[in-house]
Amino acid sequence: MKHLIVYAHPQTESFNHAILETTVKTLEKKGHQVNVRNLYDLDFQPVLRQSELESIRRGETLEDVKQEQEYITQADSIILIYPIWWTGLPAILKGYIDRVFAYGFAYSYEGNGIKQHLTEKKGIIINTHGTPKEIYDQMSMTEALKLTSSTGIFEFTGIEPMEHLLFGSIPDEELEMKKNLHTVENSLHRIF
Ligand SMILES: Cc1cc2nc3c(=O)[nH]c(=O)nc-3n(C[C@H](O)[C@H](O)[C@H](O)COP(=O)(O)O)c2cc1C
Repeated sequence: MKHLIVYAHPQTESFNHAILETTVKTLEKKGHQVNVRNLYDLDFQPVLRQSELESIRRGETLEDVKQEQEYITQADSIILIYPIWWTGLPAILKGYIDRVFAYGFAYSYEGNGIKQHLTEKKGIIINTHGTPKEIYDQMSMTEALKLTSSTGIFEFTGIEPMEHLLFGSIPDEELEMKKNLHTVENSLHRIF
């Protein structure tokens, strides 16, 4: 099985990086193929400009986007790992979605509806956030975060959301971190 991990965190000393390492290790141990696109390392250009929108309308794709789309095409599963920043995706990842999940590649319009182009793929999202989980659950923020990413991005384009993990109260003590990494491992074993 081929996995594509799209990772968006600028620091290697971060809980997100520990999640990335655990995810890669767990999947590779199972004999799966893993590609990691580390958006900060790639210095991914996240701004969807007018000229690019015009290119898309002509059915043309810029080279950097074409390369990322090729990774998606080849993947059986897409795993997004990122911290919650301002109740959403870090800008670099939001821009990756804006540009790479483009009209014509990830979806198109057909009749009165949307045609999903990324069917037959599984999706997983792993998030961390600083607010305690109970507070985000209580105020329906957890639900909103799932709705705007697992549903709004994955389901919209036909990717089947298999898991959406959100770890709150980060940074936290070591024991809690280990427990969370076990949750990641267990989920991956259960799904794949
Ligand atoms: C720019 C920025 C925006 C943030 N916005 C939120 C937020 O909206 N909600 C929240 O709970 N935490 C927020 N945080 C806290 C991060 O989610 C938290 O520090 C991160 O998930 C911890 O994981 P890490 O150690 O991998 O960075 C924000 C942090 C930064 C730097």
